[in-house]
Amino acid sequence: MLIQQRITDVFANRYGTGPRYLVRAPGRVNLIGEHTDYNDGFVLPMAIDRAIWIALSPRDDRRVVLHSVDFDSEISFPLDRIGKTSGWGDYVHGTAWALQQTGVGLCGWSGVMAGDVPVGAGLSSSAALEMAVVQAFCAASGFSLSPKEMAKAGQACENQWIGVNSGIMDQMISAAAVAGRALLIDCRSLETRAVPLPEKTVVAILDTGVRRGLVDSAYNQRRQQCEEAARHFGVIALRDVSTEQFHAESAGLSDPVRSRARHIVTENQRTLDAAHAMAAGDVIRLGRLMGQSHVSLRDDFEVSCQQLNAMSVCAQAAPGCLGARMTGGGFGGCAVALVEETEVDRFARQTAQCYESATGLLPKIYFCRAENGASIVF
Ligand code: GLA
Repeated sequence: MLIQQRITDVFANRYGTGPRYLVRAPGRVNLIGEHTDYNDGFVLPMAIDRAIWIALSPRDDRRVVLHSVDFDSEISFPLDRIGKTSGWGDYVHGTAWALQQTGVGLCGWSGVMAGDVPVGAGLSSSAALEMAVVQAFCAASGFSLSPKEMAKAGQACENQWIGVNSGIMDQMISAAAVAGRALLIDCRSLETRAVPLPEKTVVAILDTGVRRGLVDSAYNQRRQQCEEAARHFGVIALRDVSTEQFHAESAGLSDPVRSRARHIVTENQRTLDAAHAMAAGDVIRLGRLMGQSHVSLRDDFEVSCQQLNAMSVCAQAAPGCLGARMTGGGFGGCAVALVEETEVDRFARQTAQCYESATGLLPKIYFCRAENGASIVF
């Protein structure tokens, strides 16, 4: 049964009537431009055909009551006194809090939620949850927000409520994605350019099965190292350092800060080049840039791991592979590959066999379509 049908039925069972609204927000995969978002740089992600859905109706008592089918649990909180909680519910509290900080008037609602974005796999299930909750408040309270405003609220939830110092890529793509396209996002201005995905190719998500925790990982440390490098170059963010400036002035930086900066400077350029290659249909160049991105993340930014390295080596050697790299924050989660449409079966079989014999782990492989960003379906 489709997720939207399932939550509509559960809603009707609980409340004796159908929901007034149905909203959804997708997960994402990043094709290139990794760890550049919090350096005011460029990213090139797409939304995937996996999403979080909420069926809801407004309430008149300024409470939010939300039942998660997947977690089989329910949260309930007053909008006038939002406190901390744990688990998935804290993202709902935090998003409501972040929206209130912007001054919009929120109405309460009752909802039922479910989704198929794998949790903790690096496909931004938390950003999808935040954007679905923003849409639920928009529907219930009768206001609309631009994708930029939605994304900023989600990032405020992550940074200030949850305590993860993440950038804005995940929320921006979940809010602003365009079907069939990747989105080149300038993470300083939040301007976006939709770039059609190359014809006759498919995007594969390769799940290593290894799980990571952004809070516990070295994510915040990488961010600090980037800020230290920006201060060295006398700029606001590493986005402002050109390759030439890097070569001329990086001698005074000690490792690993120098390597971290080199990744950001080169990755920004690769991302712009990749958007260009994609628009021109140059899949060979695009694939090569993805491979270079992986090497830079592995050696300079040091956010890969043995399983992500094995996955990208296996994928790159498989039939039909144009390029492969780790994707997302790193230290586990998924790799992404661009694959010739005619070779998907052989690609999947060979990549899975190779990965299993290298690591002893069974990978999950999803071929995905690029979907639209968060929406109020009805
Ligand atoms: C996580 C963060 C993003 C981004 C990526 C790395 O997904 O949430 O903001 O920094 O890592 O590119």
